[in-house]
Amino acid sequence: PIVACVLAGGTGSRLYPASRSDRPKQFHSFGGERSLLSRTMDRTAFADERYVLTRDSFTDEIHDHAPEAGVLVEPDGKDTGPALVYAAWRLRDRFEREPVLVCLPSDHHVADEAVFAARLERAAEIAVETDGLVTLGVEPTRPATGYGYIVPTRSDFDEDGYAAVERFTEKPDREAATRLVDAGAYWNAGIFAWTPSALLQDARDSPLAPLVDALEDGDPDGGFDAVDSISVDYAIMERSTDVSVTPLSVGWDDLGTWDAVGRVFETTRDDTANDLVAGEILSIDAANNVVAAPDSHVSVLEVDDLIVAAFDDRILVAPRDASQRVRDVVTRLRDRD
Ligand code: GDD
Ligand code: MG
Repeated sequence: PIVACVLAGGTGSRLYPASRSDRPKQFHSFGGERSLLSRTMDRTAFADERYVLTRDSFTDEIHDHAPEAGVLVEPDGKDTGPALVYAAWRLRDRFEREPVLVCLPSDHHVADEAVFAARLERAAEIAVETDGLVTLGVEPTRPATGYGYIVPTRSDFDEDGYAAVERFTEKPDREAATRLVDAGAYWNAGIFAWTPSALLQDARDSPLAPLVDALEDGDPDGGFDAVDSISVDYAIMERSTDVSVTPLSVGWDDLGTWDAVGRVFETTRDDTANDLVAGEILSIDAANNVVAAPDSHVSVLEVDDLIVAAFDDRILVAPRDASQRVRDVVTRLRDRD
């Protein structure tokens, strides 16, 4: 069977102040009716079974946003590496035959949903055929620093095909990202397909080895205590020698930052320059600002490329360029409290 595993345990700190620790980004809608998580579930209807992976604190909300899915609760929030290893262990023996897992984040925007589902199904087939780890590669449009980069061993794979991965580099700096784009690398969509055995095998040669050992001993809590927080990209994808990439061309974006929210919704509204999640804006000689303030009336005058976000009693003002650093605000505020 194909089993979809939707990651929904992050805190979404780069979307502060919309995203707060008690109401992270996946439960927000950003420009639509349905939340990011509900829309992710809509896109995985092709799967035979679906699970949402999360931490304890979000289970009630998940039932509201994804009533059709099972929930797998990790012992602790230690980023996507431990979460995905835990899911593989839980699902490996659950069915008569070993399933193939399609793992996807819940913070994405996808324009062409039908093609998207077909590409995911194809990725699942490739994972079974190659018995390895499969990534979906998006053609880059800029040297973004917030993504993983995939260098395939050859560039001539057609729309149905795939290529072995030569190198995987998670979140390079601007210079390295520019070099990777020039060298024909793809963005890692953050969507993976693998069988539980294939992932657990590679996890044994990674910093997550103590977790795998503890899981095989039936001690998930001890396993989570034994490892540090680490994303699957750093823990496993950068290290594995058994990764393939298949192209994904569907109008994809990661809505994890204010810059991305502005980029995606700008193109879907007619009053182009200043976009927002909701609320009213007066914009005079101002361009490319991301204004997100559903309960406020915001005026921007002679400023460009800013984020202005106001939710509850919290306001954030920053240059769009600093989108990835918004998590530093959250870290500071947390340290202060
Ligand atoms: N269950 C669970 N537990 N989910 C988590 C946890 C956790 O501890 N931490 C994060 N998540 C979920 C988030 O809710 C999100 O849906 C998904 O995992 C990915 O986390 P992000 O924090 O958004 O990752 P990223 O965007 O910085 O980077 C990843 O995605 C990029 C593309 O969107 C990487 O895979 C990059 O390589 C990739 O380019
Ligand atoms: Mg993301």
